[in-house]
Amino acid sequence: MTNPLEYAPWLYRATLTLHVSAVTLSVALFTARGLGVAWRQAWPMQARWRWLSVALDTVLMAAGLTLWGLLQFNPTRDTWLGVKLVLLLVYIVLGSYGLKRAKTHRARLLFFVAALATALTIISIALAHHPLGWLAS
Ligand code: HEM
Repeated sequence: MTNPLEYAPWLYRATLTLHVSAVTLSVALFTARGLGVAWRQAWPMQARWRWLSVALDTVLMAAGLTLWGLLQFNPTRDTWLGVKLVLLLVYIVLGSYGLKRAKTHRARLLFFVAALATALTIISIALAHHPLGWLAS
């Protein structure tokens, strides 16, 4: 099979830019909403911010899946991608408890900090292409 990186390198660059931009905006919005919840504000749970978050995450994941296909990675061989996908599920669960589901304010705060730490770990794994992320170097 022809490697898409050879006949359409622009597609790879555009998709990577889209993925990284959506990651940046998504994590920034999550951080702002989490801080808003920590300060007991009502705006983080307003529909417009929830929908913006869903839209950014959809773009992020669609671009990520496209990169995966273009680069023909295999998460069991390219273990950094496998670890990243597992941590993505952890991030989603921690994030939903951090913003809404946890019963107490203190628990929401702890889940929020744990979710943010998980997002930073995912970013370090992606940049290092290594399951240990920045710890690897
Ligand atoms: C369905 C979910 C996801 C998939 C399938 C996916 C897949 C990928 C792939 C295949 C690459 C490698 C591109 C390359 O080697 O040039 C990549 C890069 C990257 N991903 Fe994801 N990703 C996903 C979600 C995320 C999330 C949730 C984050 C952060 C919270 C993230 C952060 C990054 C970053 C920062 C890069 C850039 C690495 C670089 O510039 O070398 N990704 N992603």
